[in-house]
Amino acid sequence: MNVTNQPRRHFASDNYAGICPEAWAALAEANQGHAPGYGDDLWTQKAADLIREVFETDCDVFFVFNGTAANSLSLASMCQSYHSILCHEIAHIEADECGAPEFFSNGTKVLLMPGADGKVEPASIERMVKRRTDIHYPKPRAVSLTQATEVGTVYTPDEIKAIWAKSKSLGLRIHMDGARFANAVASLGVTPKEITWQAGVDVLCFGGTKNGIHIGEAVVFFNRELAREFDYRCKQGGQLASKMRFISAPWVGMLRDGIWLRYAAHANKMAAYLESKLRPLSQVKILFPRQANAVFAEMPRVVIDGMHGKGWKFYTFIGQGGCRLMCAWDTTESDVDQFVSDLETLL
Ligand SMILES: Cc1ncc(COP(=O)(O)O)c(C=O)c1O
Repeated sequence: MNVTNQPRRHFASDNYAGICPEAWAALAEANQGHAPGYGDDLWTQKAADLIREVFETDCDVFFVFNGTAANSLSLASMCQSYHSILCHEIAHIEADECGAPEFFSNGTKVLLMPGADGKVEPASIERMVKRRTDIHYPKPRAVSLTQATEVGTVYTPDEIKAIWAKSKSLGLRIHMDGARFANAVASLGVTPKEITWQAGVDVLCFGGTKNGIHIGEAVVFFNRELAREFDYRCKQGGQLASKMRFISAPWVGMLRDGIWLRYAAHANKMAAYLESKLRPLSQVKILFPRQANAVFAEMPRVVIDGMHGKGWKFYTFIGQGGCRLMCAWDTTESDVDQFVSDLETLL
């Protein structure tokens, strides 16, 4: 088989990156002998224990293949089909999951709210809940926040707590899409508990793939009542891996010695470096505060086409438009320099 392998790194997505060495080593370590299937193995137990350690609390942990499943199945566990989920209008659960949250929850409606910098605001939550309270309206039951957001910003602990206060007063639960949770923690310099259960988050979808793992996200239930029969939901949804140790072992590799945060901080640092190189360019406009591992930039169409023509891959349809330039655990300064140098020749 002839597989062409371009060694160059891109800025399209952090899922363009490969597997980091620590996750790879843990996979190799797990690949010895036989082990019980479906999560009854020591690697899965260890990974869940390490997650409990990271969050400094007792919580229920499940490993699934991807973010769409993590979000959809966890939201389904928080709602009945006649409920609604409130989220930002560009949330991944609305725009990029092909209707899976509605599908897996048997029709729970997703209601959209605007908000600056990709963030949900307490006042919009209140407006959305109070605009209708009659039997004909899908009863709001959950708020979903993305941390870091789809446009690369992060919610501070105070912002999440304000959303919690509003949500609690309105009887709403809080779901967090943490596909880039590691980047948010690294950016804020907080402990994971400060922006999750201590700020009212009931369920977190903790991203592994974008952080450096090959495949997999962890669904972390701080509100353990909501985890009841979640294993059945995973199985029915095709998300229960029979060789589970190969989903859970990389988490052990990542969570040991704070590797996950080191890689996230590195990706954030590369995005900061990229931003610093783009800001002085007169035809490039930075679109959102750069707080995690993404830089959003507006540039002339002809330049975008030129960069694509030079073989660079990056998206222009994510969030509210502009070019999304995403850094990963393995992005280097030299990658950024090459990208910017090609850009300068086109400007
Ligand atoms: C904000 C956000 N949530 C969740 C996901 C996970 O999606 P997937 O189902 O592709 O793993 C992504 C991936 O791009 C994302 O950006």
